[in-house]
Amino acid sequence: MPILDKHNLDFISRSPEQTRRIGMRLGALLQPGDLVCLQGNLGAGKTTFVQGIAHGWGALDEVSSPTFVLVNAYRRADGGQLFHMDAYRIESAPEAEELDLDAMQNDGPLLIEWADRIQIILSPEHLWVDLEHSGEEQREMRFRAAGQRYDDIISELQQSLFGVA
Ligand SMILES: Nc1ncnc2c1ncn2[C@@H]1O[C@H](COP(=O)(O)OP(=O)(O)OP(=O)(O)O)[C@@H](O)[C@H]1O
Ligand SMILES: [Mg+2]
Repeated sequence: MPILDKHNLDFISRSPEQTRRIGMRLGALLQPGDLVCLQGNLGAGKTTFVQGIAHGWGALDEVSSPTFVLVNAYRRADGGQLFHMDAYRIESAPEAEELDLDAMQNDGPLLIEWADRIQIILSPEHLWVDLEHSGEEQREMRFRAAGQRYDDIISELQQSLFGVA
């Protein structure tokens, strides 16, 4: 049974497509103000997961890795925006603070790869997603909710993935 409690959800993905499909389910639930933190080594599947999230959210643009620009913004037909940051190259928390992540989070859902590198400046309320390589095409995905909004997201995600709340 993948369900642990209302704050936690664990899942094993067996292909990149499956990781994208789980992302699509999550993306459909996200609203402006939501923060999704992604942790996992190089090639763990963070960007693959974001591709699914952006698709499920309704992005018109293709997801690309924002390693050089640090933040990508994707648009939706209704004018909504989704922000995708990669903190891999951030040297320090003050450097990250200059990006004004709070304003982005206000304007649209904010997704952050390598969030563990800038955790100190992030809102204590968030959905944390840890991806771990556990086989050539297998990834362990651990969802951890911090805050009521994210408990609700976990519950809706369980409902969406498994049909149980
Ligand atoms: N179950 C899986 N879920 C996600 N990706 C998978 C899976 N199985 C294999 N892969 C492959 O692993 C790679 C994941 O790359 P991806 O760019 O998503 O990782 P990343 O965590 O964003 O890495 P980086 O830290 O470099 O940004 C892709 O080539 C993808 O096809
Ligand atoms: Mg990536």
